[in-house]
Amino acid sequence: MNIRLLFLLILTISCNENYYEEHAVVSATKEATNAGIKILEQGGNAFDAMIAVDLALAVTYPNAGNLGGGGFMVYIDSSGQSGSLDFREKAPKKSHSSMYLDANGEVITGLSYEGALSVGVPGTVAGLFEVYKKFGSISLDKIFEPAIYLAKNGHSLTKKQSKLYNDYKPKILELNDTSLFSKDFKEGDVFINDSLHNTLNKILKHGPEIFYNGEISNKIVNYVQSKGGIISNDDLVSYSPVWREPFIFNFNGYEIYTMGLPSSGGIVMAQILKSLQLMDQEKIINDKIKYIKTLIELEKLSFADRSYFLGDPDFINTYFIDSILSNNYLIDRMELIDFESSNPSTVINHGEVKIIESEETTHYSIHDKYGNSVAVTTTLNGNFGSKLIIPELGFFLNNEMDDFAIKTDHQNIYGMIGGKNNSIEPEKRMLSSMTPTIIKKDNEVFMILGSPGGPTIITSVLQTILNVMYFDMSIKKSVKSPRFHHLWLPDIVYFEDGSFNKKMFEYLDKLNYKLSKRSQIGRVDAILIEKNKIYTAADPRGDDYASGK
Ligand code: DON
Repeated sequence: MNIRLLFLLILTISCNENYYEEHAVVSATKEATNAGIKILEQGGNAFDAMIAVDLALAVTYPNAGNLGGGGFMVYIDSSGQSGSLDFREKAPKKSHSSMYLDANGEVITGLSYEGALSVGVPGTVAGLFEVYKKFGSISLDKIFEPAIYLAKNGHSLTKKQSKLYNDYKPKILELNDTSLFSKDFKEGDVFINDSLHNTLNKILKHGPEIFYNGEISNKIVNYVQSKGGIISNDDLVSYSPVWREPFIFNFNGYEIYTMGLPSSGGIVMAQILKSLQLMDQEKIINDKIKYIKTLIELEKLSFADRSYFLGDPDFINTYFIDSILSNNYLIDRMELIDFESSNPSTVINHGEVKIIESEETTHYSIHDKYGNSVAVTTTLNGNFGSKLIIPELGFFLNNEMDDFAIKTDHQNIYGMIGGKNNSIEPEKRMLSSMTPTIIKKDNEVFMILGSPGGPTIITSVLQTILNVMYFDMSIKKSVKSPRFHHLWLPDIVYFEDGSFNKKMFEYLDKLNYKLSKRSQIGRVDAILIEKNKIYTAADPRGDDYASGK
């Protein structure tokens, strides 16, 4: 074979990505993905599979998958009906705006992100049952089976997992008396969680009541209060998830369905994409340096708005939403961008960011043979949340309270600041960045995606979308491509290895951008459907896994 033919053959093979024709699941672990696939193969729909995946993540990905946290789901069902479920945690009734401050009004380090006071009222279990009530199509026994099996028989730890468990073990053992973390973990170890196995069986038998008004809630309250926390039985009894309209907007003819408040994801992404639409997009697409500079500057503008305006819509007046998404407003904001030299926001002086811990949350995407699409992002906030695990129950409690602005302009664990609209109030939901997203093209579902990563979630989802829409990348390539991120304050461009070439570094340097390399930005698990072919992308940054039929 001559060289030309060989080259063509290689090119054809590399362009022919595998695809599925019926259904697909992409999640953070092989076991959770397989749990979803099992449900779909038994005739269950994407919503049944969602519950199975979520529960399996609680078992096999306990640093982020959870029963003690919360999240958001965006869906488009087989009839084209869309919706979103908010099962975000809430502030306990005894919380108040200065609960993390000392007598001098200074932040007491750690209180909002570690231990009992950092825990928000968990929403996951209520959320999953709410989904089942509306959409469930097969028995709960079948849906719970994979997670129950995994908790009882264990799952094999990957290299990344064993390292993570060892890294967090000292803190977990400092805060809890648990045998689950009292060993050295190695790749291939089988991780069995008997307590969680019991808990799951009880929830299956008694439903959400046992978690919110029964044996499990009593144990949560006793444990949290014994460690100095304020969550009460009343908080758990009062918790309910909320069906909300998804946040829908148009970008270049694509219809984007994503999460609205109390997640900032939809609004921030819409501001950036709508601004791009007001610019000469051809120029941006054809000039990588201009693309990067534009995105950095638009992210700054939008994250600045996020920190000032956004918060729980059940508590704040949301009069501003239409305005901050209007063309006039966006055009005015873009006037602030200086494309020729350094940009104005670098003059804002601010301390270095303190990223106290690595980022963990988890996203999964599902599409079924009936035509239902589901995007879910769920979290404990930091890795293993508050690090509190109730030994008898076998699951971790979140540290979501740190997503509030615990003091105006104080940086949270992701370096973000906020103000009054995201201040702590009893029963309020803390502002999130989670961005589960479904995109329609020509009225058909085209992409299903989302990511973990705190504020970098929004960036990661945005750049994955633009890689496909602007640069015609396959979904795999789009997810794999290096990412960069700007949060407005701190005034730093974060980037992954490979994001910028030498020329771009020189350019950014000339404009006085502060650059900081990160080992990882986001972990996108995505599905792309085109001409009835279902393509999947499990982010290679983690152990993420895609499967389908
Ligand atoms: O809701 C939020 O935006 C954060 N609690 C999410 C945390 C997160 O993504 C951690 N990282 N991977």
